[in-house]
Amino acid sequence: MEQDIKKTIRAKYGAVAQAVSATVNKTDPSSARACGCNDISEDLYDALQTEVLPSAAVQASLGCGNPTALAELHPGETVLDLGSGGGIDVLLSARRVGPTGKVYGLDMTDEMLELARNNQRQAGIENVEFLKGDIEGIPLPDNHVDVIISNCVINLATDKDKVFREAYRTLKSGGRFAVSDIVFQGDVGKIPKKVRDLVDAWAGCVSGALEEQDYLARLRAAGFSDASLEVTRIYSDTCELGCAGIGLPPEVRLVSGFIRATKPSNVKITAVGTTG
Ligand SMILES: C[S@@+](CC[C@H](N)C(=O)[O-])C[C@H]1O[C@@H](n2cnc3c(N)ncnc32)[C@H](O)[C@@H]1O
Repeated sequence: MEQDIKKTIRAKYGAVAQAVSATVNKTDPSSARACGCNDISEDLYDALQTEVLPSAAVQASLGCGNPTALAELHPGETVLDLGSGGGIDVLLSARRVGPTGKVYGLDMTDEMLELARNNQRQAGIENVEFLKGDIEGIPLPDNHVDVIISNCVINLATDKDKVFREAYRTLKSGGRFAVSDIVFQGDVGKIPKKVRDLVDAWAGCVSGALEEQDYLARLRAAGFSDASLEVTRIYSDTCELGCAGIGLPPEVRLVSGFIRATKPSNVKITAVGTTG
């Protein structure tokens, strides 16, 4: 199932990137979106943020929050966006960290990387680098970035513990994890197996979502401290489930959250030496 999911994700987001590239400045942006009902990605950014960006970066926005508005980014910092898509959060972050800072966008879908690099060129932003790779194996050295952001991507990963371990490894000591993601609240044991097994709903940011406390526990298990989740949006249903005629049980709801955690600052370990 893991390979099916990744293949479906690449196909889905590759098609969105191609549709955006083909339709940009020509038609209604919603026609290029991944899904017919765009409740998850609608109205995440205010006009002041988007008016300075290439329209293709805005049209390709497929997040479920606005991590750049909630994360505290400072001039000179290095930021990594996991699953950067068309690059909207990378370009917004690049402005916040300024020319002395740097922002990496990481994505596994070629068409999205091409779109993101075009958007970067159009925006004339230089302190950005888009990397090809899987968020379960981040192609950056240990202790390299100050902040990890991500927008509606970790729910798509088939091995979330690997993502959290990789985020921890690549963050500097004291570094911040500041991510928007979809989570379930309530009795997730009541979610029908057919919902979890629906590959299209996994690729649509629903079926792979973790229960909120499970999310925080996995972050702590990877080594993070101060893990917390703030609900930013509540969904009554989503198109991927609705189209398949599947509803969620009343004991469960799907929400977007802003998730924060910190890689603890270096604890100095003093070797116990021999005395006398
Ligand atoms: C829902 S879109 C979000 C894109 C972007 N963060 C945004 O807010 O517009 C998911 C993106 O994550 C990428 N992606 C999904 N799983 C990934 C993985 N395991 N490794 C790298 N990229 C991944 C997809 O190619 C796609 O571009």
